[in-house]
Amino acid sequence: MTSIWAARPLADSDSTSPETGVGPGSSDLGGRGAERIRFYDYHPTPADVRAEVLQGLAQPVKRLPPKLFYDRRGSQLFDAITELPEYYPTRTEIGILRDHGSEMADRLGRGSVLIELGSGSSLKIQILLSALNPAVYVPVDISKEHLLASARALAERFPDLSIRAACADYSTPFDLPLEPGWQNLAAFFPGSSIGNFDPDDARRLLRRVASRLGGGGRLLIGVDLRKDPAILHAAYNDSQGVTAAFNLNLLVRINRELDGDFDLDAFEHQAYFNARESRVEMHLVSRVDQEVEVAGEVFGFRRGESIHTESSYKYGIADFHSLASDAGFASEQVWMDQEQRFTVHCLRVAGTWSQRL
Ligand SMILES: C[S@@+](CC[C@H](N)C(=O)[O-])C[C@H]1O[C@@H](n2cnc3c(N)ncnc32)[C@H](O)[C@@H]1O
Repeated sequence: MTSIWAARPLADSDSTSPETGVGPGSSDLGGRGAERIRFYDYHPTPADVRAEVLQGLAQPVKRLPPKLFYDRRGSQLFDAITELPEYYPTRTEIGILRDHGSEMADRLGRGSVLIELGSGSSLKIQILLSALNPAVYVPVDISKEHLLASARALAERFPDLSIRAACADYSTPFDLPLEPGWQNLAAFFPGSSIGNFDPDDARRLLRRVASRLGGGGRLLIGVDLRKDPAILHAAYNDSQGVTAAFNLNLLVRINRELDGDFDLDAFEHQAYFNARESRVEMHLVSRVDQEVEVAGEVFGFRRGESIHTESSYKYGIADFHSLASDAGFASEQVWMDQEQRFTVHCLRVAGTWSQRL
């Protein structure tokens, strides 16, 4: 496992690091409050991208992990998705946070070290920040430029906030950039990103979070609910084609980073609700029989064959409580919108759960 201190913070003197070109306090990061941002790079790319793509395309049912969506362009496209009329999850979750932010802060505890997994644009946390008043905010995201830009914007908006931004892959173990004495930990995991994991992997991830928070630690987590498949279908097949562009951008990324020769016109975006698995699946489906070269390896596609690029599991409240309980969490409270589309859960690490994984 990567040591926290191996993932060295880029201090002022590192501001011209060839690894990133930016660092806290550097003119690149810039802006008011930038001196309060410390950036920790765990380098989740690019060797991992190569290995995961080659392995995923070699499977009998081709599959790529959704974390690969999030290069710079992918993060921009995701932000565009969140503004689409059909994409209900973001605005619904934001509504729940606005309506119940103060109760959530009561549950999470004020003045904590607040860790956010998959922080993206750090927009949702802004609704809670004034109420939570964390001692330190630790956004974790795999998309480096987006993370840095978001941290900078947040520092400008909240001049008293101390930020430790970590570019890392939270699906694999890594040590958060925390000081040994910091104990009052809380976590925020919005966007129903937990739904992107198959249930066994979701349990594993939540178990690691529980282990890191320690007994009594709180996790505030957004979880999308099962609902009318027509609503789900519209949300993942928007009329402007932004979700399709987001999905296809994965092939653009592979072409650029792994010397691939995917022809974008030869694949189409498909998304549908798989009721048996209770998940929306996104696929890139080959329009023709073809061969594609990636990083010097050739992969054959039959017409109609797909690459499964994302699952988005939809849970009932009891199902999710059961999954969280398997991972060492007890449910404290759940908030929901009036149309019963989305939930935000406050989970507490069960008292005895303190082992390290
Ligand atoms: C669905 S978006 C959600 C963004 C934001 N939290 C929200 O709720 O709107 C997922 C975010 O998690 C990040 N992400 C996805 N997989 C990740 C991983 N394995 N490790 C770290 N960050 C990841 C992406 O870069 C992106 O910012």
